Amino acid sequence: MSKYNFDEIIDRNNTQSVKWDTYPGMLPMWVADMDFRVAPEIQEALQKRLDHGIFGYELVPDAYYDAVHRWFSRRHGWKDISKKNIIPTTGVIAAYSAAIKAMTHPGDRVLVQTPCYNAFFPAIPNNKCRLLENPLHYENGQYTIDWEDFERKVRKARVFLLSNPHNPVGRVWTRKEITRMGEICLKNDVFVVADEIHCELTFPGHDYTPWATLPEDIVANSVSCISPTKAFNIAGIQIANLYARNPNILELMNRAINENECCDVNVFGVTALIAAYNHGGAWMHDLREYLLHNARAAFSYIEDLDLPITTIPLEGTYLMWLDCRRLLHKGEPFEGFSQRFAEHLRKYKLVLSPGSIYGAAGEGFMRLNIGCPRTTLLEGITRFKEAVENY
Ligand SMILES: Cc1ncc(COP(=O)(O)O)c(C=O)c1O
Repeated sequence: MSKYNFDEIIDRNNTQSVKWDTYPGMLPMWVADMDFRVAPEIQEALQKRLDHGIFGYELVPDAYYDAVHRWFSRRHGWKDISKKNIIPTTGVIAAYSAAIKAMTHPGDRVLVQTPCYNAFFPAIPNNKCRLLENPLHYENGQYTIDWEDFERKVRKARVFLLSNPHNPVGRVWTRKEITRMGEICLKNDVFVVADEIHCELTFPGHDYTPWATLPEDIVANSVSCISPTKAFNIAGIQIANLYARNPNILELMNRAINENECCDVNVFGVTALIAAYNHGGAWMHDLREYLLHNARAAFSYIEDLDLPITTIPLEGTYLMWLDCRRLLHKGEPFEGFSQRFAEHLRKYKLVLSPGSIYGAAGEGFMRLNIGCPRTTLLEGITRFKEAVENY
């Protein structure tokens, strides 16, 4: 029995929530934030900071770096992370965008594994680079890496932008897989940017391996982007860290973060991060349990309904990936299906993310956010069933 009430339904309507207020009156299971109140320790720390009443420019104190170090070294075996090798910034998007800028010349290619997080796409042309895709291999409801294609594409790339755990397909890449990625990139002089924003949210048997715990030469050729925002449900507070082991790389990152004017972090970000990493462990433990039961409930509910939907195993993140391609009618064009089906779902007052926003490799799939109270989740799946039956 948890001392935190993840079952509580908290009304988020009319709170300027992107998730809830973009489609008023609908059940939103799209944008990646959760409908749970934050850990009480985070709320108390923020309240205390708020009560001070003055919110001037903020220094990042040593307590901030110590909190990051303690959390990642104890929990994830990432021993050297500290003040000397991280740069605080406003978000993980800001971090990986600065990293692309620092490590490329105009026209260079950035490799991503599709379907991939949709905000990877704009970051590439925004930094005057070109997109290169290594579509993941999908077979029997499982995603793996197409290594032959990866090796071929790496030869043409300058940067490889990795999502681990992978949004949206829910894979938590194994040490073996990421080591192989790292070796191939090193051999081809391709720099690695590891986006590990979802790293706390993994399911039993699928531990997160920080990129920074790989062999030294692989780590020297990389940066890692981390943040407490996704897992502690404080995405609107916006805070993240960019880590580089290699001092020369760190200097390049520093310059890019400054050139992009995203080096100043907000007062609440600093306070929330310290509280989360210092005092949020028990809440995180229970959240992970709750999400595990949500995932199990969602899988068994969808399977019991016997819908023509294939559920993809969820190793990490709270974002379920559903293969809906069997719903396609005879003669219906495949292209545009996810978008049409998303619009159809809205007739049933349900919002899911169409898989096609994650690249062509996501066409035919839908992403379902299970970071909500169980009753909300079951209501969402009930609406989903009705919509599926009437498509
Ligand atoms: C893989 C990935 N990276 C980055 C972000 C966003 O990071 P931030 O809000 O810190 O910019 C998300 C949000 O869903 C994400 O899934």
